[in-house]
Amino acid sequence: MRRGEPYDCTMTTFPRTRLRRTRSTAWSRALYRETILTPADLIWPLFVTSGKAVEEPIGSLPGVSRWSVDLIAQRAKEAMALGIPCLALFPNTPAGLRTEDGQEALDPDNLMCRAIKAIRDACGDQIGVLTDVALDPYTSHGQDGLVDGHGYVRNDATVDVLVGQSLNQAAAGADIIAPSDMMDGRIGAIRDALEQGGHTNVQIMSYAAKYASAFYGPFRDAVGSKGLLKGDKKTYQMDPANTEEALREVALDLAEGADSVMVKPGLPYLDIVRRVKEAFEVPVFAYQVSGEYAMIEHAAAAGAGDRDALVLETLLAFKRAGCSGVLTYHAAHAARLLGA
Ligand code: PBG
Repeated sequence: MRRGEPYDCTMTTFPRTRLRRTRSTAWSRALYRETILTPADLIWPLFVTSGKAVEEPIGSLPGVSRWSVDLIAQRAKEAMALGIPCLALFPNTPAGLRTEDGQEALDPDNLMCRAIKAIRDACGDQIGVLTDVALDPYTSHGQDGLVDGHGYVRNDATVDVLVGQSLNQAAAGADIIAPSDMMDGRIGAIRDALEQGGHTNVQIMSYAAKYASAFYGPFRDAVGSKGLLKGDKKTYQMDPANTEEALREVALDLAEGADSVMVKPGLPYLDIVRRVKEAFEVPVFAYQVSGEYAMIEHAAAAGAGDRDALVLETLLAFKRAGCSGVLTYHAAHAARLLGA
């Protein structure tokens, strides 16, 4: 090696070089660790249901419950104490309020808005509230938008409703609007409306590269859309085979004003996270979705691995791949493990 020449690792040979040297003790491994995971990297998704003092365990998501608004506020305090900076909210709209056009999404007194306000009352601005924008928890057909006579989800008409939904959530106090619907052009439309509405500091985290995935099953159960949904979401969510298209989705959403972008699902799509991070150098988040959570829980219950170790290793993998943070149902558990 001469000074000024690039370092060539093929020049270093055994036994002068032994990579096990720096791995030989815990203190040394800590010193050489390239990536760290902290509770501040986690966003905790929570399901809201109607009633008071209600906790409904979700069968397909062992260990996860739907909470009534009063108990959601308690979860927010718990998250704050654990150092989790942000919550993500999803409503299980009562069946009677689900309609063809999902108008309940626009009601300033809907479950989502009441949950946002309860968290605000309990925690002030000490914790972030991210709200999902899409119509699936509000429609009688379980699709994320308005459908035409053939069941096709209409793009532009849906965007109009999503703008209204976003303004409704922002007015209730949401900090981050997170459109998960995959309509074209919705980020720009929502950003413009937020600016005009005076919500200049309300962020947008775009579900930019969201794939039509088989890993969303337990979530649809949790928000009550599973039994309603006929068919799939392949005309708007992305084909799992595509990468180049993910980069185009991200480029468009950034150009339209997204503050950060999300890749979803998580672990099976870490290659997308890495490519997005390298191509754009912007904050990238990933959603470790319901099916991924369930796989870990079932694997641990079957004795296939240690639960805590599986949780921390998978979450660290997101950081290593380039994520700024991760939405995970394991957030509170992981934060407890990390704080211990
Ligand atoms: C709704 C939405 C979904 C998820 C987040 N927002 C489901 C879907 O697109 O069908 C999935 C989250 C999870 O599986 O944990 N648009």
